[in-house]
Amino acid sequence: MTSQHAWSTPVQLGKVALKNRIAVAPMTRISATEDGLVTEDMVRYYQGFAEGGFGLLITEGIYPDLAHSQGYLHQPGIADDRQAQSWKPVVEAIHGTGAKVIMQLMHAGALSQGNHWTRESIGPSAVQPKGEQLGFYRGEGPYAMPREITEQEIAGVIQSFAAAALRARQAGFDGVEVHGANGYLLDQFLTDYTNHRHDRYGGSTENRVRLLVEVIQAVRAAVGPDFVVGIRISQGKVNDYHHKWANGQQDAEIIFSRIAAAGADYIHTTEYDAQAPAFGEANSDGDTLAGYAKRFGKLTVIANGKLGTPEAADAILAKGDTDIVALGKSALANRDWPRRAVNGGGFEEFDFGLLQPLAHIKTSEV
Ligand SMILES: Cc1cc2nc3c(=O)[nH]c(=O)nc-3n(C[C@H](O)[C@H](O)[C@H](O)COP(=O)(O)O)c2cc1C
Repeated sequence: MTSQHAWSTPVQLGKVALKNRIAVAPMTRISATEDGLVTEDMVRYYQGFAEGGFGLLITEGIYPDLAHSQGYLHQPGIADDRQAQSWKPVVEAIHGTGAKVIMQLMHAGALSQGNHWTRESIGPSAVQPKGEQLGFYRGEGPYAMPREITEQEIAGVIQSFAAAALRARQAGFDGVEVHGANGYLLDQFLTDYTNHRHDRYGGSTENRVRLLVEVIQAVRAAVGPDFVVGIRISQGKVNDYHHKWANGQQDAEIIFSRIAAAGADYIHTTEYDAQAPAFGEANSDGDTLAGYAKRFGKLTVIANGKLGTPEAADAILAKGDTDIVALGKSALANRDWPRRAVNGGGFEEFDFGLLQPLAHIKTSEV
């Protein structure tokens, strides 16, 4: 007899039916060719998760243009037809198992530490990013000082997300996820200390979320109503783990309600611990970030962060804070996590050695 866990039940994501509520979280593995084409290792890597029983795979962050969006050397792109075509074997391999696949579209902005197409990085303002470049993605030392982009260039960024989303649709993907989290370009606009603009994209929370809203609107207009469109949102960043929104619950209401009104199908929240209260006592009622996304966005929610046991996944689903759970490191350690969970557990611990000295896909993984 199969035991019926909350995570193992089917769920609808926009117009797409998922066989269960466990997704692979987006994870950059810098295993493409220098010019951003998908490699055979990547096809087998993604196929492994699909064969292991995950209902949904969200790809690593993919760059949408040949200008400033690439963040890491050997990151894959979907900036032109050649790159888009190279994704077809990944889509076919995943669909062959009955799983679905969403492409994460990512503009690195000021956190770009390796770009095949340009040496310059851009951001909302000329503010040097905190922290240091990521060594396991071939970076070293402080981040470069970005150049502040013009309103005209912002319009170009919006268009590049829309064009990339359309290419993803044509390549057979089930949807796209706009990367609005973790400190990359859209999150740089959302974040008070990296956005010092005086135009309609800077200042109030309403203004700082405007670029995210306009990207979702443009993507939705490009792909039509029946293609899944989501967005990932976080407080923490790869270069500032502990950042919190200054106005807690009030910011959450503005951000999540505007994203929902823009035409997204889902909100994907990520926190270090998805089950922890999102904000301090003073400016919140103690809910999780996923819970606020649900309350203020009223959309399907994907929650991520330390949810890699069936008990944790079931608990956050049962609480009603989320509809789907995305697994990062626990999925890397257990490519057949859903199979193992059905069979009563026995999970491998994640070993950071897998990502050392570089985070590329290892022979042992394919
Ligand atoms: C190797 C690695 C690469 C990652 N790359 C991305 C990425 O491309 N896009 C993204 O949104 N998050 C990325 N993340 C963050 C994960 O999606 C996830 O939020 C994080 O691992 C926490 O979830 P967990 O506790 O289940 O591991 C990455 C994480 C890891 C470990």
